[in-house]
Amino acid sequence: MKVGVVGVGNMGSAILEKLVENPTLLLFVVEKDRKKLSTFLNSPNVSEATVEELKEKADVVIVAVKPQDVVEVLNGLRGFKGVLVSVVAGLSTNKMREITGVEKLVRLMPNLALKVGRGIAAASFQGLSEAEKERILTVLSIFGEIVEIDERLFPAATATIGSGPAFVFVLVEAFLDACVRMGIPFEKAREIVCGVFEGSIALLKGTGEHPAVWKHRITSPAGTTIEGLAVLERSGARGSLIDALYASYLKAKELER
Ligand SMILES: NC(=O)c1ccc[n+]([C@@H]2O[C@H](COP(=O)([O-])OP(=O)(O)OC[C@H]3O[C@@H](n4cnc5c(N)ncnc54)[C@H](OP(=O)(O)O)[C@@H]3O)[C@@H](O)[C@H]2O)c1
Repeated sequence: MKVGVVGVGNMGSAILEKLVENPTLLLFVVEKDRKKLSTFLNSPNVSEATVEELKEKADVVIVAVKPQDVVEVLNGLRGFKGVLVSVVAGLSTNKMREITGVEKLVRLMPNLALKVGRGIAAASFQGLSEAEKERILTVLSIFGEIVEIDERLFPAATATIGSGPAFVFVLVEAFLDACVRMGIPFEKAREIVCGVFEGSIALLKGTGEHPAVWKHRITSPAGTTIEGLAVLERSGARGSLIDALYASYLKAKELER
């Protein structure tokens, strides 16, 4: 398959790093900044192109530029006959269709965990047959787990999937600071904290049980855990997290066009 990628920033470069690993793909890259392109041009299956050239050369085009740059890119893709994929926050499939006239559209909200093969992406497909969808999913597998959602839920997916890792990193940092405060050296703290996060998630995924059930199992009467939980509840940490995701959601809704 011939795949074009427009924009090689944080997200676009993560996408390309994964795509180049698949030797069956022929890749065409559009990026204003040649420095960002140069590392990829050493790969045998990658060549540079313009947006207009993608219309002739690519079966699939993945757009990964910032929201403010996307209209210019879409204008250049007017009349493209393949599948148009966008990871751009706020860009609806209606807007993609209105500007380009393309009927086969995929809207995605991925995150950067795709760099380590552990990404998750919300997806909405428009105008693709089941066979076309299956085919495109072989390319989209680089994004990790694909969860198909109703397009009206994309602002929520943007807050949770796109921005969510940033909130998780704040939590991880707080755990690390706490470890260091208690005297655990940073490198050991990192190993321990990552293990705790990974193990907790594995428990949830492995058992399918509600997190409150596991919290209850860990919390013994008059024990150590309830002391910490009482502080968390008093400080409003749970409400702050809900508000943080909701603030991202409202901003994502504002971007929606
Ligand atoms: N980063 C994330 O975690 C994440 C998660 C989910 C979705 N997204 C979405 O991914 C998109 C890209 O985000 P990002 O963080 O990767 O942004 P970024 O680092 O700014 O990357 C965008 C890249 O596109 C280039 N570009 C802009 N206009 C172009 C054009 N007309 N032709 C070719 N290249 C062009 C930019 O070059 P210049 O810098 O020279 O302008 C830049 O290198 C955004 O729409 C965002 O909503 C990002």
